[in-house]
Parts: sequence; structure tokens; C-alpha cells
Amino acid sequence: MLVQFYNVSKLYPNGVKALDDVSMQIDRGEFVFLMGSSGAGKSTLVKMIFREELPTRGQIFLASRSVVRMKRSEVPKLRRNIGIVFQDFKLLENKTVMENIAFAMEVVGARPKDIRERVPEVINMVGLKGREKSFPGQLSGGEQQRWV
Ligand SMILES: Nc1ncnc2c1ncn2[C@@H]1O[C@H](COP(=O)(O)OP(=O)(O)OP(=O)(O)O)[C@@H](O)[C@H]1O
Ligand SMILES: [Mg+2]
Repeated sequence: MLVQFYNVSKLYPNGVKALDDVSMQIDRGEFVFLMGSSGAGKSTLVKMIFREELPTRGQIFLASRSVVRMKRSEVPKLRRNIGIVFQDFKLLENKTVMENIAFAMEVVGARPKDIRERVPEVINMVGLKGREKSFPGQLSGGEQQRWV
């Protein structure tokens, strides 16, 4: 099992109970839809997978490792291994695919050497090799969404 939630509850400090005793498992390669009304706790659940939020009760495992007990120093590594596409993605229309990725990395303080190495890797990984110099307007909706 890739993702395991055991009796997970989340009570925010303001007293809102966002999740109440959630248990679920997601297998490798599984395609999962998470549906629910606004405020149902979907974002809270996703945030707990990459330890943006910690549960108040329960256990969470990612590839058999406890996300809750993980040391703070291990969190960046966990996050590098998870790809999440946010609904509010922003691409700069006047920058190419390559430039958009490089720009996003510059914003988070990546070193130029890492940017040079990583940009082609990322393009390859998301299957956009050959489209490096395309602008967002020249890509399909799905192709545009292939970044985090
Ligand atoms: N940081 C926070 N502090 C306090 N309460 C929060 C916090 N984040 C979310 N909540 C509350 O927790 C509940 C679940 O919120 P969550 O963002 O997980 O819902 P959602 O299902 O993603 O909703 P939407 O469909 O609107 O994005 C809501 O009542 C929300 O107001
Ligand atoms: Mg949400």
C-alpha cells in the first residue's frame, strides 16, 4: 500500500473538526477521486499526505513510513518525492515551458546549477520533451497542468 490512513482525525486550533476518524488505503498505481462539498476536509486530507498538516489523532504511512513520526529534517525529502498539481496553477504566458519551470525554481531559491540540471529532467519526467520552447498558449489544457 502506498498511502495508509488509520483512524485519522484533524481538529484545527480554532475548534473546527476537519476530519473525523478517517481510515483509507491507496495502492500504487491506483487512480483516486476525492469528492465532497466545500469544507468537507479534502484539502486537509491531501495536506496531511505531505505533512503540511499533522493529524490530531491517528497514523499516516507513505510507502510504509510513518509521516507523523518522521523527523522534521526528513520532510523536504518526502516532499521532493511527491508530485501534487494544485488547482490554482499559474503559468507565465510570455515565458516558454523551460522558462516557466526555471522561474518557479528561482522563486523558491534554487541554485542556477540545480536549475540547469533539473529543468530538462522535469520536462522529460512529465513527457513534454520537444516542447521546451513552446509557450503555454501553444499547449493543451492537460499539458499546461503538468507542473506543480
Ligand atoms: N488552517 C485552518 N485552520 C482552521 N480551520 C481550517 C483550516 N483549514 C481548513 N479549515 C477548516 O476545516 C474544514 C475543512 O477544510 P478543507 O480546506 O479541508 O475543505 P475542502 O474539502 O478542501 O473544501 P473546498 O472544497 O472548499 O476546497 C473547513 O471547515 C475549514 O474552514
Ligand atoms: Mg480544498
